[in-house]
Amino acid sequence: MTGNPYGEFDDARREYVIHRPDTPLPWLNYLGQDELIGLCTNTAGGFTFWRDARLRRLTRYRHNNVPLDLGGRYLYVNDGGTVWNPGWKPTKTPLERYECRHGLGYTRLVGARDGVEVKQLFFVPPGETAELWQTTVTNTGAAAKDLRLYSYVEFCFYEALNDMTNLQRTYSIGEVEVEGPAIYHTTEYRERRSHYTLFACTRETQGFDTSRDAFVGVHNGLHEASVPFTGASQGSIAHGWNPIGSHELRLRLEPGASETFAFVLAYVDQGEEPRFERPGVVNKATGRRLLERLAEPGAVDTAFDELRAMWDGLLSRFQVECPEPSLGRMLNTWNQYQCMTTFNLSRSASLYETGIGRGMGFRDSNQDLLGFVHLVPDRARQRILDLAATQLADGTCYHQYQPLTKKGNAEIGGDFYDDHLWLILSTCAYVKETGDTSILAAPVGYADRPGSRDDLLHHLETSIAYTLANRGAHSLPLIGHADWNDCLNLNCFSTEPDESFQTTGDVEGSAAESVMIAGLFLYASRELAALYRHLGRPDDEERLGRAYDEMLAAVEEHGWDGDWYLRAFDAEGRAVGSHERDEGAIFIESQGWCVLGGAGVGNGRARKALESVHERLYTEHGVLLHQPAFTRYHPELGEISSYPPGYKENASVFCHAHTWIDLAWCLLGDGDRALDYYLSICPATKEDRIETYRNEPYVYSQMIAGRDAAVPGEARNSWLTGTAAWSFVVAAQGILGVQPDYDGLRIDPCVPPSWDRFHVTRRFRGVVHEITVLNPNGVCGGVRAMTVDGRRVPGNLIPLSTGTGTIHVEVVLGAEQAAEAFG
Ligand code: BGC
Repeated sequence: MTGNPYGEFDDARREYVIHRPDTPLPWLNYLGQDELIGLCTNTAGGFTFWRDARLRRLTRYRHNNVPLDLGGRYLYVNDGGTVWNPGWKPTKTPLERYECRHGLGYTRLVGARDGVEVKQLFFVPPGETAELWQTTVTNTGAAAKDLRLYSYVEFCFYEALNDMTNLQRTYSIGEVEVEGPAIYHTTEYRERRSHYTLFACTRETQGFDTSRDAFVGVHNGLHEASVPFTGASQGSIAHGWNPIGSHELRLRLEPGASETFAFVLAYVDQGEEPRFERPGVVNKATGRRLLERLAEPGAVDTAFDELRAMWDGLLSRFQVECPEPSLGRMLNTWNQYQCMTTFNLSRSASLYETGIGRGMGFRDSNQDLLGFVHLVPDRARQRILDLAATQLADGTCYHQYQPLTKKGNAEIGGDFYDDHLWLILSTCAYVKETGDTSILAAPVGYADRPGSRDDLLHHLETSIAYTLANRGAHSLPLIGHADWNDCLNLNCFSTEPDESFQTTGDVEGSAAESVMIAGLFLYASRELAALYRHLGRPDDEERLGRAYDEMLAAVEEHGWDGDWYLRAFDAEGRAVGSHERDEGAIFIESQGWCVLGGAGVGNGRARKALESVHERLYTEHGVLLHQPAFTRYHPELGEISSYPPGYKENASVFCHAHTWIDLAWCLLGDGDRALDYYLSICPATKEDRIETYRNEPYVYSQMIAGRDAAVPGEARNSWLTGTAAWSFVVAAQGILGVQPDYDGLRIDPCVPPSWDRFHVTRRFRGVVHEITVLNPNGVCGGVRAMTVDGRRVPGNLIPLSTGTGTIHVEVVLGAEQAAEAFG
């Protein structure tokens, strides 16, 4: 048992079990793995959308409600006048038993009182656009029970921003149709939509409501909704206002008896089918078929088995047994699961991202892919091409795009001069994982040249060319609106509260430069050079090598501050992240990327930079983004100095950037540091301090409040963060050292000397690699000997095998063939 009174990991079942509904913050899970996505908290709160949280939202959710997390997939139980919910909310009637199990793509709830137990299982079957709520009601008492159950969802008019802002219109457009247990939300179907939302029950129902006013009562809260308390559905039909879906089910259960049925919440696209059965009446054939299919005996169980099998298959691609339980727990289950979620959603929809403001981030999605590509490479391939299609002909990119339209978001535009370089990292990762070089020739246009076609490889070249051609006085890359740190705005100078830090300020003609982008360029150009080597194009490899050398020279000449790398040069050419500054003297992004890019090798700077980070920025909660925190607003630095000290980009532990330092330690071969850093932000280690940490202990959060904050160690913004993918890279490729490469799997671990062995199962290019790594001499890394199926293999590359079966690899760590000394 840990010191966490709210819940615990159930590793065998790959579930996180929550024992109390009143968690320090709502603890979220995601249902759905591809098109239909539901957010589901531990009290059944959340909403559901199809593909795009802004443009195809099926159910409503008011973020930042009072109380937090109100609205969701509710079931009210009226047992002889006492009304309760199995997930506790919204009535919060005390439960004798409550349990929530968040699993991979599903959430189970159990609520019980007065001899009635309700179990609910929420999930989206693979390949379906329907969310199912399998529900089992059991009479656990000694007397017969007459129960009334009321389901409840509130429909959204699909376009989520309009839905909450344009009430003078939306209050007049709501339409529904009801057919037995099937409620059809058909708003705007008559005119321009060819899709509707179906909310149905696989069991016979005894009543329904579709008007929120009728079901809840205009002046009531959901906890006192009038229909569940009066016990009588109104049969209301919504004409405008706020359509909802609610079924009434009457159940008589003898002692010991139980009944199982399911609610179905589906997005139904009419496709080519006629849209109307007769004038004004929606063609429900597709919805009816779906419902019939799901109402077949055993259909829901089969669908759930498919979901479980899908995840078992996915996770079997990477599994580890190692001496550190938190690393194993995260890597084997939760981290990979979170990587799927960040891949699906980028930063669009969570409890902290409303699904309205941001679509798919360009740099975010390219990085998310690094933790996902081994799971479903085909989807990664498509994502790379979608991202590339939002690149402009000059090499810059739209910063974000909408998932539904795949069109760049004009409101924010582009000109974040790191964005385009991340495309190189994702593409190379994809080719290393799959060997599929055909993607490089895939035709992709430029977003500002309708009808244009280029191949993906050329997009990567365009990215390199842009950075090379847009450098400042120190030959370092210009920063534009910002680099990875969206809040370091060196061209903005905003003094008006209503301006956006991201888009205000002209980047044309500005001289502000980024050392972090320079480091990223080093990394990206080396990656591309290695790709050319693989493709057998020595001239291109050499050309990239020259570009690399040139950038490296600029970094070493102008980017070094004495004990660490500078962060940037501002628009006036003054150093940012320098000991000369009283605030923001040292930043981690440039230390991470310069070292990862190969700067500081042979001159001791790489190690020096990381030691400076350790000395000044390392805390028990992780590495701070910079120090000292900004205590006053610096218009020449922008949004970063607008946050209170210790929060967000102003000196919190911004977990995403923390991981780069960790990876850099791996490169330097310090296994104790690597693991220590890994664990410092690892959510599974936060259970003992959960009252402070507050967020879900099974997924990474974007930030943990830094030492300058009121409550250091408090996490914010869970789930959608680049930390997921990068932590996977750190653990899988850095610490365990299992690295996909063009010609095989490379083994280059960086573990604490105290680890005597570990085992990794890795599916790679169709072959299961069972890799046992032994550490008889207590070293951090270096491969002394390696055998593949008993045969000695030189070096540390497991060559590609031709078969599709399993190969057994044994690796002995030791000094003899240690990787080249670094730093
Ligand atoms: C954004 C990232 C950005 C990071 C640091 C996140 O909220 O999604 O794109 O790199 O913040 O500013």
